[in-house]
Amino acid sequence: MSDSADTGFPHRHLLGIEGMLPPAISFLLDLADTYVEQNRAVDKKKSSLRGRTQVNLFFEPSTRTSTSFELAGKRLGADVLNMAVARSSVSKGETLIDTAMTLNAMHPDVLVVRHQDSGAVHLLSQKVGCAVINAGDGSHEHPTQALLDALTIRRRRGRLDGQVVAICGDILHSRVARSNIHLLNTMGACVRVIGPPTLMPRNIEELGVEVHHDMRKGLAGVDIVMMLRLQMERMQGAYVPSLREYFHFYGLDQEKLSLAKPDALIMHPGPMNRGVEIDSTVADDINRSVIREQVEMGVAVRMACLDALTRHLPNVGAPL
Ligand code: CP
Repeated sequence: MSDSADTGFPHRHLLGIEGMLPPAISFLLDLADTYVEQNRAVDKKKSSLRGRTQVNLFFEPSTRTSTSFELAGKRLGADVLNMAVARSSVSKGETLIDTAMTLNAMHPDVLVVRHQDSGAVHLLSQKVGCAVINAGDGSHEHPTQALLDALTIRRRRGRLDGQVVAICGDILHSRVARSNIHLLNTMGACVRVIGPPTLMPRNIEELGVEVHHDMRKGLAGVDIVMMLRLQMERMQGAYVPSLREYFHFYGLDQEKLSLAKPDALIMHPGPMNRGVEIDSTVADDINRSVIREQVEMGVAVRMACLDALTRHLPNVGAPL
């Protein structure tokens, strides 16, 4: 992230949560709060991005992030283009950078990029003249997911500081875990990570988290339980003996959940694998599960990010 004009959000791109300071995070969450109300109104449209062009470039599958970025841009009045990567010249061997520079030549104002390789979005941001938002890069970061999770918690609990949050499951492959750890620690929450040793990154405690391999001990007294799916697409070989055994030790069911605080919130970034990392009775618990609310907050947070980043942009096209 590089510094830019003083508009409350001092970054030209949104590439990750790491290194972001509390005022910048609070600025985005406060702005997103205003968009939650707008999204619940009949007239959801604003014109703050009128004339702007937003290109969504997803090299990995997505339901929540891609649709909410599209909705967010449209609700702010931008022209939104969704690149169909599978039908693009990427399939003919064009590189990520050549693809990005080709799109850059058409003067977009914002590029929203998801890519399977950690660091790819950062690299791309150095080659283009527009603002770049990381919609998830490999197992590195997924900043807008952490922001929408934080907004969900803050609206439910009124605060982030002091909350004890357990992030459970495949921590090793999770960009969601990494972004959440950075954000929650920065905002004064206390983070526990829970999972089998095979799915725990080496030296994860250096990020300022408490590490647990026994889920029952790790869940004791927590305020928030955030479940993660097993990211099979990033695994080569077996990381768990069987899905049945994994659920026995690390799947969230009512019995394990009873060890958390009685009003603990249940979160999941999606997509869920029911019966693998979470039981349906927990995922669908209308009193405690905020999984649908997370999706709602996703649109508001992405509107806030688009709004904040485009405030820095010049009114004429950037040089190529
Ligand atoms: N949470 C998340 O990133 O979901 P999608 O992969 O559906 O975008």
